[in-house]
Amino acid sequence: MPRKLLKLKNYDIHSICSFDPDTGKLNANIAMWVMASSMDGKLVTIALENGDYTLELIQKTPFLTINFLAEQQTRLINKLGRRSGRQTDKFKNLAYGLDSRNCPFLRESIGYLSCEAKAFYPSGDHTLVLCEIVSQKVLHPELNSMSLNFLREKKLVRG
Ligand SMILES: Cc1cc2nc3c(=O)[nH]c(=O)nc-3n(C[C@H](O)[C@H](O)[C@H](O)COP(=O)(O)O)c2cc1C
Repeated sequence: MPRKLLKLKNYDIHSICSFDPDTGKLNANIAMWVMASSMDGKLVTIALENGDYTLELIQKTPFLTINFLAEQQTRLINKLGRRSGRQTDKFKNLAYGLDSRNCPFLRESIGYLSCEAKAFYPSGDHTLVLCEIVSQKVLHPELNSMSLNFLREKKLVRG
């Protein structure tokens, strides 16, 4: 019963970008479980799947960006959200820049938060990552946010 109720929820869709400072490898995923978690607007908590490359990279070096995706970016769902970056270069043919810590961000997104991971909490098959917002940049405020309901309507996700 609770599972069905949670299936009715809508979420905004994001991409979490990370990197390996030793090899220079850049990575990005798709993430919907992202929420502001303090009134002062300085903390965000994200749920990352155990075993995914994104979590491994952020546990190695705590810098990440949280990119707010626009409806125009649906091609990123398969590219970033359905394969691991361990074996592939997800940044091939992707418009990106680097923030002051050399962490990538997606130029075509609505904007991004530059964050630093401060704590990790186990949460079943995910790990909650408490992130401090270091800076933020609005890139394309005119665009509509990509949402899970939008992806459902376009038949890009099931359920
Ligand atoms: C619509 C959608 C929402 C997703 N939300 C999350 C999420 O909130 N947290 C997460 O860890 N993975 C989420 N994923 C799955 C990851 O994006 C996926 O496992 C990705 O391949 C991980 O790549 P990586 O191994 O390079 O980190 C989502 C995928 C899709 C398509």
